[in-house]
Amino acid sequence: MINDALELIPVNETDLDYLYNLQCIEGIRKFALDSNIPKYDEHIKWFNNKLKSDTTKIFKIVDNDIIIGVVRLDSLLDSTESIAEISLTIDPKYAGKGYAKRTINKIIKVTDLDAYHAVIHKSNIASQKVFSANRFSYNSLYCPKFNLYIYRKG
Ligand SMILES: CC(C)(COP(=O)(O)OP(=O)(O)OC[C@H]1O[C@@H](n2cnc3c(N)ncnc32)[C@H](O)[C@@H]1OP(=O)(O)O)[C@@H](O)C(=O)NCCC(=O)NCCS
Repeated sequence: MINDALELIPVNETDLDYLYNLQCIEGIRKFALDSNIPKYDEHIKWFNNKLKSDTTKIFKIVDNDIIIGVVRLDSLLDSTESIAEISLTIDPKYAGKGYAKRTINKIIKVTDLDAYHAVIHKSNIASQKVFSANRFSYNSLYCPKFNLYIYRKG
């Protein structure tokens, strides 16, 4: 049962395997910038660096104590404004129920930045719908096959 009380809970050391197992689900990285599944030791290194980083925040998306997926904010440092790039993964078990749309809506509400970026594969229709529904607009070509969408607050 979906309610409106989605929680965004910062990840900690105990979430290492949850994040890895999510990445290993078949097809989940199909539209990622790097679509290869990382090796477990690469994941450990990546995860520990992200946990230590001042510029990354990763949250579990939780509904009624069930983990639905994860959302990550990576701050862009080469700007005078506060901008973060959003990456989002919803467990396919819970896909198509509006969780992604509600997660983006919530993360924008609970964080205070000037703008949010999303880099979306041109064939990732579901993701385009999610960000468009949250008023992200096409901005530019980011790299071949990927477009940059931006939402500006205020
Ligand atoms: C893309 C993703 C975030 C969507 O999550 P979700 O919770 O299923 O999305 P929502 O239910 O909020 O809404 C998605 C919309 O796309 C539609 N959709 C879902 N899968 C689709 C598909 N394969 N093709 C076309 N549309 C699709 C849904 O019907 C819904 O459409 P609507 O606006 O007409 O109602 C999720 O599939 C995912 O994590 N994919 C892998 C990682 C990824 O691509 N992340 C995004 C890049 S940052």
